[in-house]
Amino acid sequence: MGSWRDKTMVLFLWLSVIYVCKISAEFQRFEHPTKGDGTLRFLVVGDWGRKGEFNQSRVAFQMGRIGEELDIDFVVSTGDNFYDNGLKGEDDPNFLHSFANIYTANSLQKQWFSVLGNHDYRGDAVAQLSPFLRQMDSRWLCLRSFVVDAEIAELFFVDTTPFVDEYFSDPGEHKYDWRGVSPVDTYTAQVLNDLELALEESRARWKIVVGHHAIRSVGHHGDTQELVDQLLPILQANDVDLYVNGHDHCLERISDNKSPIQFLTSGAGSKAWRGDVDKSNKENLKFFYDGQGFMSVRLTQSDVEIIFYDVFGRVLHEWTTSKHQLHLEM
Ligand SMILES: *[C@@H]1O[C@H](CO)[C@@H](O)[C@H](O)[C@H]1NC(C)=O
Repeated sequence: MGSWRDKTMVLFLWLSVIYVCKISAEFQRFEHPTKGDGTLRFLVVGDWGRKGEFNQSRVAFQMGRIGEELDIDFVVSTGDNFYDNGLKGEDDPNFLHSFANIYTANSLQKQWFSVLGNHDYRGDAVAQLSPFLRQMDSRWLCLRSFVVDAEIAELFFVDTTPFVDEYFSDPGEHKYDWRGVSPVDTYTAQVLNDLELALEESRARWKIVVGHHAIRSVGHHGDTQELVDQLLPILQANDVDLYVNGHDHCLERISDNKSPIQFLTSGAGSKAWRGDVDKSNKENLKFFYDGQGFMSVRLTQSDVEIIFYDVFGRVLHEWTTSKHQLHLEM
């Protein structure tokens, strides 16, 4: 007992455990080859599933039109996919009424990459991750955290709902489906660890992180302090270019004051017009719109172009810059 041999053995076992954990914990990865012209184009919509109501259908129609114009590669959903309380199960007809039968335009028959929002966790969250939904509509792909390698860009999808303390400490009348998430501290630590690894390993020209909750927002919910504290430092340290989210039912762009990161909210897929803006939090706010709409992203090796549209497909805000310029400004 206690010989160097025992100690070496114990150390060896621990190292194996750590090694295995790192490997098995990696985010699932998907390759999405681009069209070969070196550009990437996609739409972003969030907070949408209301059976077409609250202008969801109008937003969907304009997404189809703009999607055609841009010849998009895929669509990103920033969560709160189904209101009010996610899906009831794999065979909930809301999947058809709020997704499959709404986004019917030709240009939207592309892969949809989705994360879960807090409202999705109020139903059967696991159902949204099910391959059964992918059989019903092959566009659908929703997972908790994963990576999409789209050649010039890598997109890192992060499950942000479990980070928000309030859902655990003060759930009110809501019931959350925390299956697969408990114990939550271990879960969130693992997510951050995996994200950091994936970002460090990334050789992509553009790094884009997608979550449901905002890091920075002047809208109804405001900043998500847990993400400011835990997620933002990892993004700042790893040359992330864009953080894209929903949650606040608005469209907005805010710049970071410590890095080139742009905080982009696209959470206006259906119900909007909350009318409350936190004026005290307006630092670096570049654009805010309280109504419905969506966002497009166009990337080349050198440039990024972000456009926000309203329910009529009108351009509300356009922001273009080069990677070079973005980093010069900091
Ligand atoms: C639908 O969009 C129009 C135009 O922005 C707006 O005036 C109207 O209030 C919206 N309807 C709902 C239910 O939000």
